[in-house]
Amino acid sequence: MNWPKELKIKPNYPLKDRTTFKIGGLAQFFCEPEDRRVLSLLVKTARDKKLPVRVLGAGSNLLVNDKLVKGLVIKLNSPCFKGITEQKGAIRAGCSVALARLIKFASERSLQGLESLVGIPGTVGGALAMNAGCRGYNFSDSVKEVEIMDRNGKIKYLKKSRIDFGYRSSSLAEYIILSCLLKLKKGTRARIEQDSSRFLALRRKTQDLTYPNAGCVFKNPKGSQAGRLIDLCGLKGKNIGDAYISERHANFILNKGKASSKDVSRLMRLVKNRVKSKFKFELEPEIRIWG
Ligand code: EPU
Repeated sequence: MNWPKELKIKPNYPLKDRTTFKIGGLAQFFCEPEDRRVLSLLVKTARDKKLPVRVLGAGSNLLVNDKLVKGLVIKLNSPCFKGITEQKGAIRAGCSVALARLIKFASERSLQGLESLVGIPGTVGGALAMNAGCRGYNFSDSVKEVEIMDRNGKIKYLKKSRIDFGYRSSSLAEYIILSCLLKLKKGTRARIEQDSSRFLALRRKTQDLTYPNAGCVFKNPKGSQAGRLIDLCGLKGKNIGDAYISERHANFILNKGKASSKDVSRLMRLVKNRVKSKFKFELEPEIRIWG
């Protein structure tokens, strides 16, 4: 397949080390565009070739299949996607700004609201697409406007009222997210840092980060918690190959070595079946699956 030379497309690009799970095969085509102009050309070329397009963020909430991800995978790694500035009490953050950096930036300016996200190994773009959240807070609570590129390579600004945000989902997933404007409350730096430390300690206590993983695997079903249900099925420590259900938090699957995507998928199916037959709850994956 011919691509314009300036796009510097890499065919059959390994994705495994681009995910926190350390699992996955190849991207059919991979590209790290250096700026918005190149990104626009890339998106239009993929549209003309009728290729599916996926954006890779921090790879922290993702299960990639063992063989081939068909189409184009884009990583927005260049500095022009990592800008962060304060605009009269609001923050404009690029899609590839790490959440950790965003939280630090806000705290240094005494802007409050993002503390509960501390410790999530994601990016701003990922947090928008997934509507990341913690302890009753959702990223959408702080969003004022999002800058996106559509599949025709055109840049648009979407006010929050034009975006559907759900529990771990948003209508932004169909676009390439470029940046967002966040409205935060003025607080005191000491209080923000205190709250961040409290959330981080809670996360360290309850979650299992001893081996590569992708965070919570299943969404919490309405009125219940996936972790508790899986635990009550006695599945902690259960494994298929090197994919293990964490002993500490049953909604975490750990890659204790060379787990394949197939191992994880089989373990997820087993969990779904057990929870369904014992509690009649239909668990849905929280992690994105690139099949
Ligand atoms: N629980 C068990 N056994 C377990 C795990 C949990 O009994 O093995 C119980 C806990 O004791 C608690 C309840 O289940 O009573 C809920 O557990 P936890 O407080 O750990 O929170 P969670 O509902 O499992 C959600 C989010 C997390 C987020 C935390 C904290 C989902 C699917 N998960 O977890 O998000 O960090 O709340 O706000 O919404 C993620 O998105 O990847 C993620 C981990």
